[in-house]
Amino acid sequence: MSSGFLDKRFVIVAGKGGVGKSTMCAALGLMAARAGKRTIIAELNTREKAPHFFGKPDSGYDAQEIWENLYSINIQPEPALHEYGLMKLKFERVFKLVFENEAMQRLLRMVPGMNELILLGKAFNLERERTRRGDPVWDMIIVDAPATGHGVSLLRLPQVVLEVSRTGPMADEVRAMRDLLQDPARTMLNLVSLPEEMPVKETIMLSEQVDSILQIPKGYLLVNGVFPELAGQEERALLGTFEAATAADGRIGRAIACIEAMVGRRDLQQGYLDELARRVALPAIEVPYLFEREFGFDAIDTISRRLADAMT
Ligand SMILES: Nc1ncnc2c1ncn2[C@@H]1O[C@H](COP(=O)(O)OP(=O)(O)OP(=O)(O)O)[C@@H](O)[C@H]1O
Ligand SMILES: [Mg+2]
Repeated sequence: MSSGFLDKRFVIVAGKGGVGKSTMCAALGLMAARAGKRTIIAELNTREKAPHFFGKPDSGYDAQEIWENLYSINIQPEPALHEYGLMKLKFERVFKLVFENEAMQRLLRMVPGMNELILLGKAFNLERERTRRGDPVWDMIIVDAPATGHGVSLLRLPQVVLEVSRTGPMADEVRAMRDLLQDPARTMLNLVSLPEEMPVKETIMLSEQVDSILQIPKGYLLVNGVFPELAGQEERALLGTFEAATAADGRIGRAIACIEAMVGRRDLQQGYLDELARRVALPAIEVPYLFEREFGFDAIDTISRRLADAMT
């Protein structure tokens, strides 16, 4: 792996649906912001999560500061296309002529992946964006990728377009996108998983596809939701010694059954952690399951510090 997370400019977070991708984006974003990086979390046309962890309303298409040095944006296809069109065509009037033309609209609706390509294009532009003095506007862009299969198709779009058209302005644009995605100096894709059967299967598959299809440099495997190690040998031995008490009071038996279930679950998790360690050759970071009633800033803060500890 070439240098660390904090040296990257384009950080992608990918994984199965519901495993905690948005949570990790927020935690990584907070970590980068604290390290002095002007960071933006890019959510792709989805129900926003990032601002809510920080007690802020939706950001929409205008980057909103959600923490000191940390911003978020929800990239939507219409404003992204509008912005892109204006950038290339310079004049609103010409833009309207070209893009608000019915045939063009139909074309955009018909070409599969066109909307997604525009989302990726905007994220790419965040990386390219410069101030008047020529400095990057953003030190780090964190992309909250769509779940597994959709994520792979999205990140593959630049290659797909290049396969059908190798020349012209569109090709130059997507070639630059592909080059960014495959550049180990700037880009790092992190996988998020859970120590459970289906997420582990998908993670192994996704990890292989990132190499074979996408060729995007990988960083960390973040294993989310790991239970605390509750019971060592001594505690396990103790659990078997409560028969007399259980016989006297059924509630004790039920309480012990709960504890045994937790211990059993942790043992299952260990099996999946071992499988991930065998099958995914990446530095793995275990993120604890947080037993909190409100999963908000405090949870993100805890996870962020855990990630920072593990990475340094
Ligand atoms: N370490 C954790 N401990 C406890 N709960 C967690 C943890 N990580 C995530 N969660 C819970 O799981 C929810 C879903 O996480 P998150 O939104 O990050 O998943 P996701 O992968 O982005 O989902 P989607 O695929 O739907 O975008 C969080 O809102 C939070 O309530
Ligand atoms: Mg999400």
